[in-house]
Amino acid sequence: MRIAVFGAGYVGLVTGACMADLGHDVVVRDIVSEKIETLERGDVPIYEPGLDELLERNRERLRFTLDVAEAVHDAQFLYICVGTPPTPSGDADLSAVWTVIDELPRDFDGEPPVLVMKSTVPVGTGASVRAALDVRGLERIGYVSNPEFTAEGTAIHDFMHPDRTVIGSFRFDDGDAVERLHQGIDGPIMRMDVASAEMVKMASNAFLVTRISFINEIANVCEVTGADVIQVAEAVGLDHRLGPHFLRAGIGYGGSCFPKDSLALKQLAANSGYHFQLLSAVIEVNELQKRRVINKLQKHLRSLRGKRVALLGLAFKPNTDDMREAPSIVLAARLAAEGAEVTGWDPVADGRAVLNGVHIADSALEALDGADAAVIVTEWPELLELDWDAAGSRMRNRLLVDGRNMLDPEALRAHGFEYEGIGRGGS
Ligand code: UDX
Repeated sequence: MRIAVFGAGYVGLVTGACMADLGHDVVVRDIVSEKIETLERGDVPIYEPGLDELLERNRERLRFTLDVAEAVHDAQFLYICVGTPPTPSGDADLSAVWTVIDELPRDFDGEPPVLVMKSTVPVGTGASVRAALDVRGLERIGYVSNPEFTAEGTAIHDFMHPDRTVIGSFRFDDGDAVERLHQGIDGPIMRMDVASAEMVKMASNAFLVTRISFINEIANVCEVTGADVIQVAEAVGLDHRLGPHFLRAGIGYGGSCFPKDSLALKQLAANSGYHFQLLSAVIEVNELQKRRVINKLQKHLRSLRGKRVALLGLAFKPNTDDMREAPSIVLAARLAAEGAEVTGWDPVADGRAVLNGVHIADSALEALDGADAAVIVTEWPELLELDWDAAGSRMRNRLLVDGRNMLDPEALRAHGFEYEGIGRGGS
């Protein structure tokens, strides 16, 4: 099949590379010329494990362009993988989606393509796009909602082995065509109407963040009652009705999807006259969770004015260079507001553009030089390997806030550290 992919970001590149790997011919179109030049040179503008190899292996089935006409020419499927960031009101900004729709040609020679919406969009977007296409005389173009559920860092595996593929269509034939395109991908296919498919994506992410905020609140209660959230979460997760996933307590969720999608669903509900109380609380808990790190530091250091704090890990999670909505951004800003000097280190992400006033070190040890405290913000495996005794000897004061509960408290205490985890009252 011939596929045009709009958007060369995380979703578009993974979709394009995986579709090419399944044997389809793919053209990826973006509006940023540097991205297209980078891709044409054989480089990858983002960090996603395995993506470089997949693009290289499928070079002959992949093209990159700035030109809409070239992308659309002969394409049987038009995948929309553009960003839908939040507007100041918290609603999803669909301007990039509408630009793609507006740029589509008025006439298609031969069989018209099927438009496949992979970007996360509010419920009702498909209906609006359908109406807009019809008004422009493009009734014959199909429309399918096919939300992505891939997580950064494991996106290629998630794409090829999804828990489910959701296909929402207005016309059954369009859904059939997209279903055929997924031959070679494991997992059940769920067919439904467009609005329901749109809601599956929003509900899934809302449920996942609810689990995270729930376990974070349990962790906070563990701290004041002397229980250990790691043991609690493990035992809770063994209940087959609950399951073990997304029960890692920490300093809150970030990333390109969870914060924006939860806010978008909250606003979608509000705009429709419904106050989504539970989701509002989930979002608020996440904001407070990041800020609790400051209280933990103050508990030991009292005033943070003039104190040096090292943030270890800056990306919103390991195995990605993505800084979008990373908790490190809020932490760095709060620390600066308290008068602390902040140093940051990340093995992959370059936080310079978003972390004002933070000195970026080349290694974790360098970041710890003369520090009064270290905060693990992202659970990079490198931090498990770190010689914590050597690390401590470079610090002015051995205080560690393990924001991801990744280290053994007793081992750290044996190295003379004051250790603060999240919800580890019992340890
Ligand atoms: C997420 C969804 O998993 C994916 O299905 C959707 O398509 C996009 O959003 P992603 O943002 O890449 O993917 O990362 P994910 O691994 O889900 O983690 C998101 C955030 O939640 C990270 O900041 C992570 O640290 C945090 N998290 C996750 C927790 O704090 N605790 C957990 O138990 C799990």
